[in-house]
Amino acid sequence: MLPEKIKARISRRLKDSEVSRIVTEEVKQFMAERPPSIGAQEYYTTVALFILRELFSQTLVKSGDVAAAETAHADELDFDTILNGLLIWMQKDLLGSNIQMLKALGSAIAERDTGSRAHPLKVTLYAVQLAEQADLNKDQIRTIIKGSFIHDIGKIGIPDSTLLKAGKLSDDERKIMNSHPTLGAHIIEGVMWLEDARDIVLHHHERFDGSGYPSGLQGYGIPISARVFTIVDVFDALTSDRPYKKALSYDDTIAYMHNQSGRHFDPTLLMKFFEIAISLYNEIRQSTIDELEELLVEVISGYSGLDPHGIYLRSLYTL
Ligand SMILES: [Fe+2]
Repeated sequence: MLPEKIKARISRRLKDSEVSRIVTEEVKQFMAERPPSIGAQEYYTTVALFILRELFSQTLVKSGDVAAAETAHADELDFDTILNGLLIWMQKDLLGSNIQMLKALGSAIAERDTGSRAHPLKVTLYAVQLAEQADLNKDQIRTIIKGSFIHDIGKIGIPDSTLLKAGKLSDDERKIMNSHPTLGAHIIEGVMWLEDARDIVLHHHERFDGSGYPSGLQGYGIPISARVFTIVDVFDALTSDRPYKKALSYDDTIAYMHNQSGRHFDPTLLMKFFEIAISLYNEIRQSTIDELEELLVEVISGYSGLDPHGIYLRSLYTL
């Protein structure tokens, strides 16, 4: 990854160097003169950036490239530009790590529950396509990506004896099983960047007619991200093999879902899904897990500016 490469190279070159000694002394001296009104971290970063800028500029002057130091490079090394670049870099790094974490969590939950890590990948792909078809905006779609990956995070708290039971669940077991949305919402509570995924985590088992759980929300009272997600979650569950059941055919699935229009599902969104269902189903059904991941890389890149592995897109390198 580019940042690590740069870091390693600079560290190697600066080790025990004269530049390093001078900069360290300068920083120490400046820190001793820090005005009490400015935070230590903020002041340290500012001083370090100004020293860097000066060093770069002087190096170019000494090497005879005066014009470059005073024109193009001087512009590029404007303090705000450097600071903004660093902030963007840090945010992207954080976002990349978070997406990796989401993916790992989603896969771990699905592996235990369904015996495969394909489910969160497939529902995320289906959900984004449906959201686009329904003209949801970019923020809503980013929210749907997060929520889709970790929708069943609450299943972490469901014992194996219930989660993996092959036969019919008893009333008590059903109650435990149906607590997973609430458990999930508790798990992500206080994780600020996941707050907007809460709607899907908490409400993906609500039904349009109000007969779902945990809150019995009805109609458009159910958040739109959850209404979108419910459709694709059920579609993928019905059309996929599970350890305890065989997949339904595409036609039988569509017939069942049609019958549930206005009962389980938002009728308008369901119609939108039917417009894209067959081509999506064929594409996703024929894809291997690796191919599904690649498809997701493309989708997430479009909405976040980086891929799920946290690797920056080429355009971000264009300095
Ligand atoms: Fe669920």
